[in-house]
Amino acid sequence: MAQESLLASIGGYYSEKVREHGATPLGVDWSCVPTQEMRFVQLLKLCDFSEDFSLNDVGCGYGALLQFLKRRYRRRQIQYFGTDLSDGMIAAASRKWRSHPSARFSLASQGLQISDYSVASGIFNVKLNGANEAWDAIIRNSLQRMRDASRKGFAVNFLSAPLNPESGIAELYFAEPEHWAGYCERQLNTEVEIVRGYGLKEFTLLMRHPG
Ligand SMILES: C[S@@+](CC[C@H](N)C(=O)[O-])C[C@H]1O[C@@H](n2cnc3c(N)ncnc32)[C@H](O)[C@@H]1O
Repeated sequence: MAQESLLASIGGYYSEKVREHGATPLGVDWSCVPTQEMRFVQLLKLCDFSEDFSLNDVGCGYGALLQFLKRRYRRRQIQYFGTDLSDGMIAAASRKWRSHPSARFSLASQGLQISDYSVASGIFNVKLNGANEAWDAIIRNSLQRMRDASRKGFAVNFLSAPLNPESGIAELYFAEPEHWAGYCERQLNTEVEIVRGYGLKEFTLLMRHPG
């Protein structure tokens, strides 16, 4: 129950952001397009672009990843499924992409589609006043759901822990790469690649199913 009400608050937080700033990076709490897309570049290292595939974009916001894919990989057929906690985001995404034939958007409560890959950019960052144990449980559930819905692999990103823990912002969640990489290897039976050093105080985990 604590988790449900925390997730409802997070959904409300992001609905307010998109109401205020519209379908723009600020509307999903990012500072600008270049860093938003820098995250997509890291997450998409998971995917084999030599063939067509299907993709869950978990926490899709207004569908900026779809825009990026259409520009960068115009020739590829990518079946795109965006899900988000925030009804405001799903409304903004559905408006923006209403004439795009191969994109579908739905609320996270409806679950993920079984797809080749699942990626999530920025879903673990804002925890508001959530206790760390509740947030850890939400992360574990999200990773499990992404694993179960992905035939080939999944990828997520996290904010890196600051050198001085006291300089962290209480409403944000910071992580150590080895912690969640170890969890995905041991509990979810995946091969994990840690990507870091791409100019943001963050890291990305690429999880591939063995064999
Ligand atoms: C920082 S924004 C990034 C949006 C988009 N991924 C992008 O990079 O443009 C994070 C998004 O994830 C959504 N979100 C947060 N936690 C989520 C969860 N557990 N499941 C699904 N969506 C979530 C939020 O509503 C928000 O739209």
